[in-house]
Amino acid sequence: MLSVNGISFAYNCKSVLNGVRFDVAGGELCSILGNNGAGKSTLLKCILRVLQPREGSVLIEGEDASHMKRMELARRMGYVAQKESGNARLTVFDAVLMGRRPHINWGVGEKDLEVVRGVVEALELEDLSLRYLDELSGGELQKVVIARALAQEPGVMLLDEPTSNLDLRNQLEVMETVRRAVTERGIAALMAIHDVNLALRFSHKFMLLRGGVIFACGGAEVITSGNIQEVYGVKVEVETLGERKIIIPLQTMEAKAVTREEQHAR
Ligand SMILES: Nc1ncnc2c1ncn2[C@@H]1O[C@H](COP(=O)(O)OP(=O)(O)OP(=O)(O)O)[C@@H](O)[C@H]1O
Ligand SMILES: [Mg+2]
Repeated sequence: MLSVNGISFAYNCKSVLNGVRFDVAGGELCSILGNNGAGKSTLLKCILRVLQPREGSVLIEGEDASHMKRMELARRMGYVAQKESGNARLTVFDAVLMGRRPHINWGVGEKDLEVVRGVVEALELEDLSLRYLDELSGGELQKVVIARALAQEPGVMLLDEPTSNLDLRNQLEVMETVRRAVTERGIAALMAIHDVNLALRFSHKFMLLRGGVIFACGGAEVITSGNIQEVYGVKVEVETLGERKIIIPLQTMEAKAVTREEQHAR
């Protein structure tokens, strides 16, 4: 569904991505993990063609994205940006309806309204639907932006830290909604996310990005204490809870103590 073939990108002379290559199949949610500045947002913007990669190509359902017109790209790819301000004088309902724009020819149809109503309901935005965007909290606005991308009904969804402003309940609700959209509609989703445990709970696949190159990519087996330490420079314990893996970051002092013990053991 989404195929990224050796993307390299530099801001002026500063190289940020180097030969990034991976696939995300339909029905798969892939999380990009990596420290601040690793190149996650840049990678999403290159896929979206907001930025032009120096090398490499992006295929959507086998077709080269660089040959697609803006409207066609918008029909096929939904994007939730890391920083979103939103048009202040738009109501929540109208903002979500904007997601239908790539599909609308002459006017808003019953199908468009039906899709918007469904998404508004799924994300529990009904009570906010007539409020203006500048009257929303940061988390409420983030949910509206995610709703707009879902209303677009794209084949590929790119999400840049979609849960960063959300409280615990809304983090779960948004992740459940995205995961449901991915599995039920066969969407290929690529999500930059900092919460490794949230990623472990909802993703099918993980890409660890370090310094603009893929350090590891695969299923939950790539989330090991060694890999996490390499990518984030933090010692963690990896535990299994039922069928699910979780990571427990060790506090700095604990991490130092473990290191000291390891040194003694040598
Ligand atoms: N417009 C820009 N011009 C120049 N350098 C930039 C620009 N945007 C980002 N960078 C640099 O490119 C590198 C990658 O940035 P990017 O935003 O892709 O990181 P990220 O992995 O998304 O980080 P974060 O987790 O903080 O969101 C960083 O070193 C950043 O300073
Ligand atoms: Mg980013």
